[in-house]
Amino acid sequence: MDNSRKYLLNFKGCNFERTLVDMKILEKLDDFEIRDDDVFVITYPKSGTVWTQQILSLIYFEGHRNRTEKWDTLDRVPFLEYNIRNVDIENRPSPRLFASHLPYYLAPKSLKNNKAKIIYVYRNPKDVLISFFHFSNMVVKLEASNTLENFMEKFLDGKVVGSLWFDHIRGWYEHKNDFNILFMMYEDMKKDLRSSILKISSFLEKDLSEEEVDAIVRQATFENMKFIPQANYNNILSNEIGRRHNEGTFLRKGAVGDWKHHMTVEQSERFDRIFQEEMKDFPLKFIWDLNDEANSNHSAK
Ligand code: PPS
Repeated sequence: MDNSRKYLLNFKGCNFERTLVDMKILEKLDDFEIRDDDVFVITYPKSGTVWTQQILSLIYFEGHRNRTEKWDTLDRVPFLEYNIRNVDIENRPSPRLFASHLPYYLAPKSLKNNKAKIIYVYRNPKDVLISFFHFSNMVVKLEASNTLENFMEKFLDGKVVGSLWFDHIRGWYEHKNDFNILFMMYEDMKKDLRSSILKISSFLEKDLSEEEVDAIVRQATFENMKFIPQANYNNILSNEIGRRHNEGTFLRKGAVGDWKHHMTVEQSERFDRIFQEEMKDFPLKFIWDLNDEANSNHSAK
């Protein structure tokens, strides 16, 4: 049975989580006023959003870096369209930092040709699929799937939050010249967190000392974030979003290539065929497994 309508709200062709999305914000996105120093982390779900929110917060807030303040990362870098804590988004002091899963065509009009910065983080879609499958089974606000096969069907049909992965990344990439945007790959962040943080801070025109970079790297590793309640969303999941069961954590594995432990050969090959069809001529590279650098090309493995 197709239960997707119970969980998903379709707004102008894109699926949002029905009860968490802020309709007031969605409806006035076109006119949402952008400031030159606004910064957005934009992702398809399960691609490294919270990780990058944490990095941004560490870059911008000394009190976060030296651990003298204990704000939730979500309060430092709130979601634009999922404003679950009713932040006064418009009147926040600058620089405003936001996270969002919006497709390019729903982005506020004045983000175009603006100095405001966007960091678009993308991840190989087989790992996105696996992460999304587990997350959907863990939280009450998303539709659970009995089997991976069942979830894969919805994912490849775009019947999930964020709609179709292929459209999301293609849309942002093909319109990149309209925006001030930096593309970051999850797998590169995994391979070399320090260089990735330097790349992000240079894009943000933030000069950081060696010690500051060290502190950011230390606090943005998977192992560290997993044990910092402000960074790992576990409290937010339990208290505000709601879990189906107590197994599992928001920071689940944080690995590259975990799909190999979950997909059958047949599922993987089917995925590859669709990937190759949808992403032919797409110039960004993908990494499917860190142990096999030869795989870092355009096609799915
Ligand atoms: S969401 O719900 O869309 O905001 O999810 P998102 O934050 O985009 O993605 C969650 C996955 O990112 C992993 N993650 C990390 N990986 C490596 N290092 C760090 N520091 C890190 N922080 C978060 C998180 O574990 C989810 O991936 P999986 O594969 O499920 O572990």
